[in-house]
Amino acid sequence: MKTHLSEKLFEKAKRYFPGGVNSPVRAFKSVGGTPLFIQKGKGSKIYDVDENEYIDYCASWGPLILGHAYPAIIEYAYQVMQNGTSFGAPTKLENDLAELILSHHPFIEKIRFVSSGTEAVMSAIRLARAYTGKNKIIKFEGCYHGHSDALLVKAGSGLVTFGQSSSAGVPAEVVQHTLVLPLDNENAVEEAFQKYGQDIAAVIIEPIPANNGLLLQRKEYLQFLRSITQHYQSLLIFDEVISGFRVGFTGAAGYYNIKPDIITFGKIIGGGFPVGAYAASKEIMGMVSPDGPMYQAGTLSGNPVAMAAGYAQLSECLKYPNFYTELEHKTTTLVNEIQNLKPPHLPFKIFHIGSIFWIAFTEKEHIRTASDIDPDSMKYFKQMYHLLLRNGIYLGPSGYEVGFVSYVHSNEDIIRTIQVFEKVLKSL
Ligand SMILES: Cc1ncc(COP(=O)(O)O)c(C=O)c1O
Repeated sequence: MKTHLSEKLFEKAKRYFPGGVNSPVRAFKSVGGTPLFIQKGKGSKIYDVDENEYIDYCASWGPLILGHAYPAIIEYAYQVMQNGTSFGAPTKLENDLAELILSHHPFIEKIRFVSSGTEAVMSAIRLARAYTGKNKIIKFEGCYHGHSDALLVKAGSGLVTFGQSSSAGVPAEVVQHTLVLPLDNENAVEEAFQKYGQDIAAVIIEPIPANNGLLLQRKEYLQFLRSITQHYQSLLIFDEVISGFRVGFTGAAGYYNIKPDIITFGKIIGGGFPVGAYAASKEIMGMVSPDGPMYQAGTLSGNPVAMAAGYAQLSECLKYPNFYTELEHKTTTLVNEIQNLKPPHLPFKIFHIGSIFWIAFTEKEHIRTASDIDPDSMKYFKQMYHLLLRNGIYLGPSGYEVGFVSYVHSNEDIIRTIQVFEKVLKSL
């Protein structure tokens, strides 16, 4: 496999950007080696500057549920772009995308478009505080909610602890209202509410935690979070930046049939362009400026080209009645076949839901908390990663990241992927 041109470009990029990249995981630090510089994508495949071809299961970290350069998205975005790229004034395209989403989602009535998942979650937290008049938030170890200050926290040593900032540059005062709890533990949540219940504005969770492995939660646990937040008049925020429109059009909320108070979106909603959103009931959204006292704004919010791409992508997801069943079926085939190949001398398991999968080197039947993951097992992922690359399979470059199957992965892609795994797992 030639990587000469990627290497050259990476050396140059290091002169311009911290670590040579504009988002840390892209630097290949977890797996070692040089990141591949991508030249183009078409359908299920990506091609790097050295002209290697890969079947792509990273899918730009989730947005590309229809694969790369999907004609309906490209055509609509291009058509809209001919009339200008941004106005900072309302366009019909915002109405169209909002209508498409709200009319197909039973749990939300109003939405606000922003430009990233981080911005969506940051605004949702502000909204929860504005609506409840309370300050504290509960988040869970192992859930990622973007890089806003209040959420860059890790757990302290006890069961119920205020977070310690997990990044330099975040003052302790900024995270003093963030409680960090382990997932899958009702007692910890009860204890937190008993101690601080009067001041807890919201519990935020990725209902399908997919940023630190795939930590599939029990439905009863999510239902418990719904009822305890109601009991204490706190809000429940589902961060559906990954799961939204991915495990079904109505995301995890629809999948588990649990109505959270606020839902955040990102990734798929923008069809490969930078879009995020937060949505809730009319009453809660009534807090948002200019209707209400909570300020939140954005120069490029609701950008017409991004709205067009999002509209085109979500329309396709709704167009085919079996869209999500087919995606899931494809994923289950892939996962089950690979699972059966399991290397005899190594623990190996693939967790999956909808079209999301996560490869773990573990014997555990369930992995529901961040602490269930053995960091030492990542050495196997690292080895496997490079062997897969050499054989034309591209995953996100970290063993803590999930993979995504897209609608355009063909049967041939799936068969080829299984064949490559067979070869690679044997040689681990
Ligand atoms: C669940 C979740 N929330 C928030 C974010 C942040 O989104 P963005 O990277 O668009 O800022 C991510 C990104 O991966 C995410 O997975």
